[in-house]
Amino acid sequence: MELQDVVQRRTMVRSFATEGVEPEVVGRILDAALRAPTAGNTGGTAWVALIGPDQTETYWSATTDAAWRSRNARRAEGLRRAPVVLLSFCSPEAYVARYGEADKAPEGALGTGAEAWPVPYWHGDAAFGVMSALLAAVDAGLGACFLGAFRGEEALRRALGVPARWHLFGAVVLGHPDGRDRRSRSLERRGPDRSDRLHYGSWNRT
Ligand SMILES: Cc1cc2nc3c(=O)[nH]c(=O)nc-3n(C[C@H](O)[C@H](O)[C@H](O)COP(=O)(O)O)c2cc1C
Repeated sequence: MELQDVVQRRTMVRSFATEGVEPEVVGRILDAALRAPTAGNTGGTAWVALIGPDQTETYWSATTDAAWRSRNARRAEGLRRAPVVLLSFCSPEAYVARYGEADKAPEGALGTGAEAWPVPYWHGDAAFGVMSALLAAVDAGLGACFLGAFRGEEALRRALGVPARWHLFGAVVLGHPDGRDRRSRSLERRGPDRSDRLHYGSWNRT
């Protein structure tokens, strides 16, 4: 598929069929995620792939509770049917250590602690990887949805044996769309105009 088509077609899918995804297709999507850039080539991002209902259930039971599931019943079921959940993790420590190395000395304070960073690269790098995965999913003819990390991070880390220095960035829920998606409420809201978001030469020129 042409890159422009992939970019234009990508949209979050929240209702999946239970049909599985070939392991090599999951592998290709994860390869795309790992190919994303990381600052200073730190590589401080990592993934846990949950494949099949027994594994994906670990994610849903750690990160959702009965109240959320009943408030979002239809959406929760549509998402939960997805056969694959790819969990994106990032390590602030890895970036602090990398930017303390000799070739990064000019960046100065960045090596001293995560709070000194004006823009935390670990979140940016995790997002680059997620975006690559979302685009690779479209290229593979699949649907995907990114879910932020709101609750249950510690329970999830414990269940999966993820060391505490790795922070959950979010989840890419992946599978075959079942075509029963309802339009997201977020898409109903009128966002800012293009001219509010694009500026040429200076903020006042659009
Ligand atoms: C950082 C981030 C967190 C998001 N978290 C959620 C989420 O928790 N649940 C959800 O249904 N969609 C989530 N979304 C999807 C957005 O709602 C969606 O991307 C946006 O409404 C635009 O729709 P589109 O991606 O289909 O074009 C998230 C997107 C981003 C970038």
